[in-house]
Amino acid sequence: MPSTAPTLIRLADYRPPEFLIDAVALSFRLAGAETQVAATLELRRNPAAMRGDGALRLDGEGLELEWIALDGQHLTAQDYAVDDESLTLFQVPDQFCLETRVCVHPDQNTALEGLYLSNGMLCTQCEAQGFRRITYFLDRPDVMARFSVSLEADRAQYPVLLANGNPVGTEDLADGRHRACWDDPFPKPSYLFALVAGDLSRVSDRFRTASGRKVALNIWVEPENLDQCGHAMRALKNAMGWDEDRYGREYDLDVYNIVAVSHFNMGAMENKGLNIFNAKAVLASPDTATDQDFQWVEGVIAHEYFHNWSGNRVTCRDWFQLSLKEGFTVFRDQEFSADRGSRGVKRIADVRMLRARQFAEDAGPLAHPVRPESYIEINNFYTATVYEKGAELARMLAHLLGPDLFRRATDLYFSRHDGQAVTTDDFVACMEAVSGRDLSQFKRWYSQAGTPELEIAGTYDPAAQAYELRVRQHTPPTPGQPHKEALHIPLALGLLDHQGRDLPLRLVGETGVIRAGTRLLEIREPEQVFHFIDIPEPPLPSLLRGFSAPVKVRFDYSEAELLFLMAYDSDGFNRWEAAQNLSQRLLLAWVAGAGPSIPAGFYEAGRRALTDTRAEPALIAEILTLPNESYLGDQMTQVAVEAIHQAREGLMTRLGQELSGEFRAGYELNQDRGPYEPSPEAMGRRALKNLCLGYLVAAGEAEALGLCRDQFEARHNMTDQIAALRLLVDAGGAAGEEALAAFYDQWAGDALVLDKWFAIQASAKGPGTLERVRGLLGHPAYSPTNPNRVRSLVASFCANPVPFHAADGSGYAFLRERVLELDPLNPQIAARLLQSLVRWRRYDTHRQGLMRAELESILAAEKLSKDAYEVAAKGLA
Ligand code: BES
Ligand code: ZN
Repeated sequence: MPSTAPTLIRLADYRPPEFLIDAVALSFRLAGAETQVAATLELRRNPAAMRGDGALRLDGEGLELEWIALDGQHLTAQDYAVDDESLTLFQVPDQFCLETRVCVHPDQNTALEGLYLSNGMLCTQCEAQGFRRITYFLDRPDVMARFSVSLEADRAQYPVLLANGNPVGTEDLADGRHRACWDDPFPKPSYLFALVAGDLSRVSDRFRTASGRKVALNIWVEPENLDQCGHAMRALKNAMGWDEDRYGREYDLDVYNIVAVSHFNMGAMENKGLNIFNAKAVLASPDTATDQDFQWVEGVIAHEYFHNWSGNRVTCRDWFQLSLKEGFTVFRDQEFSADRGSRGVKRIADVRMLRARQFAEDAGPLAHPVRPESYIEINNFYTATVYEKGAELARMLAHLLGPDLFRRATDLYFSRHDGQAVTTDDFVACMEAVSGRDLSQFKRWYSQAGTPELEIAGTYDPAAQAYELRVRQHTPPTPGQPHKEALHIPLALGLLDHQGRDLPLRLVGETGVIRAGTRLLEIREPEQVFHFIDIPEPPLPSLLRGFSAPVKVRFDYSEAELLFLMAYDSDGFNRWEAAQNLSQRLLLAWVAGAGPSIPAGFYEAGRRALTDTRAEPALIAEILTLPNESYLGDQMTQVAVEAIHQAREGLMTRLGQELSGEFRAGYELNQDRGPYEPSPEAMGRRALKNLCLGYLVAAGEAEALGLCRDQFEARHNMTDQIAALRLLVDAGGAAGEEALAAFYDQWAGDALVLDKWFAIQASAKGPGTLERVRGLLGHPAYSPTNPNRVRSLVASFCANPVPFHAADGSGYAFLRERVLELDPLNPQIAARLLQSLVRWRRYDTHRQGLMRAELESILAAEKLSKDAYEVAAKGLA
C-alpha cells in the first residue's frame, strides 16, 4: 500500500484556479545527469475565482529547489514551504513575478514523465501532469500561459535544440556550448510543453496552408532511421490538407516538428508545434513495417496533428474532460483514415477494437463514464472508454445532426472556444446551438457508464401490410451506478425484402415520397415501438447499420437469416456483422458441448465471400476472420479458456479443409505482382492472401508449411515475412525455431523489428510459451525500462489466453512478478499490465482465487504507486 492513502480527485470538487499565469519564461541548462531549470512566472489573482487564504500553492514533484525570488526579492525559508508535491508561498500580492531555479535528474527518470533521457537524447512528456516534474507551476489545463523558452547545452552532445512554437534565434556560447530560443505565441496549458535536445537528423518538407501560410515540416530521427520517414511525412501533409477541407482548420505556426524517440509510454504526444512520437508510430519502411504499422503510423500522425485544434487551440478545463479532446480527435482520425483507405473496412476494424477493449472495460470493475466522476491517478483514465467510446459519441452527434449541421457545429465550437479550456457540455452546447435540438438526454452518454443493450423484436401483419418493430433498451449496472437511465440512441436500419433489396421505410402517419434504403430512428424511451406501413411482405431487418451506436443488439435471427444478410445486405458493415454473428454462434455452441455441428450453408457462405470478385479483398479477409478468443470469452457467462481455443482452431481447420481449393486459389491470386505498395488495395490483397495461407496451415495441407517457409525466406516485405513467421512459430517444431533464429540474425540491429520477434514468441499458440517468455526476460535485448519491449514481451503474453490463464496460475504469477518489478521503474506501464488481472469474476472459481491472490499480493506491496494501487484496489472491490 502507498504510505499515505491516495486521494480521490472528484469532478464535483472542481474550482477555477485562484491564480492565473499570463506568461512564463523558462531557461534550461541541459545535461543528462543534472539539468537546471530557471522559471519566471507572471502571476495574478484570477478575478473569476473566490479568494482563498492568500497563499499560492504550486505543483512540483521530485524537484530540488535552488533559488526563489518574488518581484526580485530572494525568499527565505520562512516565506514558503516545500513538500513532495508542492511549493507553498504563504503570502503573495495580487500580481507579481515569481522566479525559481530547480535541478532535475533526467538520467534517473525511468517513469518517462517530465524530462528524461532516451538513447542519449533529452526529451519531455508532460501530459497529463509531467510538467510539475520540470518546474514549480500551476500544472492544470485551465491555466494557459504564453511560453518562451531558452535551451542551453553542449553543442557536440546536443546539436539540435527544440521547443514549442517558432524558433527565435540561436547563439554560440563559450566552452563548446550553444543556445536556442523558442517562442510560442499561443497561450497553452503546461501539459503541452515540450523540449528535445539531441543528435538528430531530419527529413524536411513544406506545406502551404489554404490561406497561404508557409509551414516548414521536419521529422527528426536518429540518423540511421532517415530512410524510414517518408510515409509519416506524406501522412502529415495529407492530414493537414484533410483538416482544411473537412473542418476548415489551418495550421498556425511557421514550423511543425515531429521527433521520434525510443522510450515512450504511449504512441505519441501532441505538444504544440513539437510532437513527440514513439519511434514505432513514425518509422515505416516496407522491409521493417507491416501494412498494419503503415496504417497505424498514418493514423497517429493525423491524430496528433488534429489535436492542434481539438485539444490545443481549444483545450480541456480539467482532466475529467479528457474525452473532449481525445474522443473527438479519435473520431477525426478515424474519418481521415476512412477517407484515405476503405471506409467500410476501417469501420469494421474500429468496431472490432471497440468491442474487444471498450465493451470489456464496461463489463468489468474499471468501468467508468466517458466523462469520469473521480480518479486517483489520471494516467489510468487514458482508456478505451474515454478514447473509443468518446469517439462513438462524436460520431453519433455527427449522425444525428447530419454533415452540414455537424460542420457548422464544429466551426462554432472552434471559434467560440478558441484559446479556452472547456468541457464536454460546451461541445454539446455548440451542437444544440446550430441545430436547435435538445440534446440533454444525449448528454447522459457522457455521464453514464456501461454498454446499453437493445432488445429488438419485429412482427409482421400481412393483412395490414405493416411491420411493427419493438425496441427495448437496458444498460446493466456498473460500479457506483446501480440504476441506469434511458439513453438517446441513433438506430440506423433497413428492411430487406425476400430478394435482399431495401424496402422504403414509411412510418405510420408519414406521407410523401420515401426512398428505399437506410433510415435513422431515434430511440429515447426504455421501450419504443415503430410502425412501418406499406410493407408488402415479411421483411428481414438489418439493424444498427454501420454500427450507428455503441450498443449490443439482440434480435432473434435464424441461421438462415444471418446467411441471407451476409449475402445480400446493402450495408457492408452488416454483411460482416452477420458473418461474425454466425461464426460466434457456431463457436459458442461448440464450446457449450454441442461439438462441431456446422451447417453446409456456412461453408457455402464462406465460399461465396471468398470468390466474390466484386468485393474488396480487405473486406473478404474481415468476413473470413473468426471472432477472436477473448471476444468469444466475453460472450460467455464464464470464460472457457481452453474450450474456446479448441473450438476456434477446430472451426478454422474445418473451414480450411472444406474450402482448401478456394484458399489455395486465393493465396495465388492475391500475390503482389509488382513492387511493394502501401496502397489500400495492395494491403487488402496481402491481408487476404495471408489469411488464405493461415487457413491452408490450419487445414493441415501438406505443402502449406512449405509455402510459409518460402514466403518467409523470400523477404519481400515485413507484412509477408511476419505473417509466415507467425504461422511457422505457431505450428511449432524445427521449422519455427529455424525461422526465429534467421529472423533474429536478420533484424537484431533494428529495435522495432526486434519487438516483433519478442511479441511473436509471447503470442505463440503451442505449449511451452511461458517458459520461452521467462527465458526471453534474460535475453540481452530485453529491458524493463523500454516500454515497447515490455509491451512486446509481457503485454503480448498476457493477451495470449491459454498460457496466461493456465490453470496452475503460472501466467498470473508471472504477471505479478513483472508488475512488482516495473512499478518502481514505470508506474504507468505497470498499471496497464495489471489490468489483465481485474476481470477475475469472469473465470471459474479456481482461477478467480488465483487471480485475486495475485491482486492482493500486489496491493500488499510496499511503496506501490498510485497508478497500480488504483487498478488493484478497484480490481478487488
Ligand atoms: N495525448 C495523447 C498522448 C498521451 C496519453 C500522453 C496519455 C500522456 C498520457 C495522444 O494524443 C494520444 O492520444 N495518443 C494515442 C494515439 C492515438 C492515435 C489514439 C496513443 O499514444 O496511444
Ligand atoms: Zn490524443
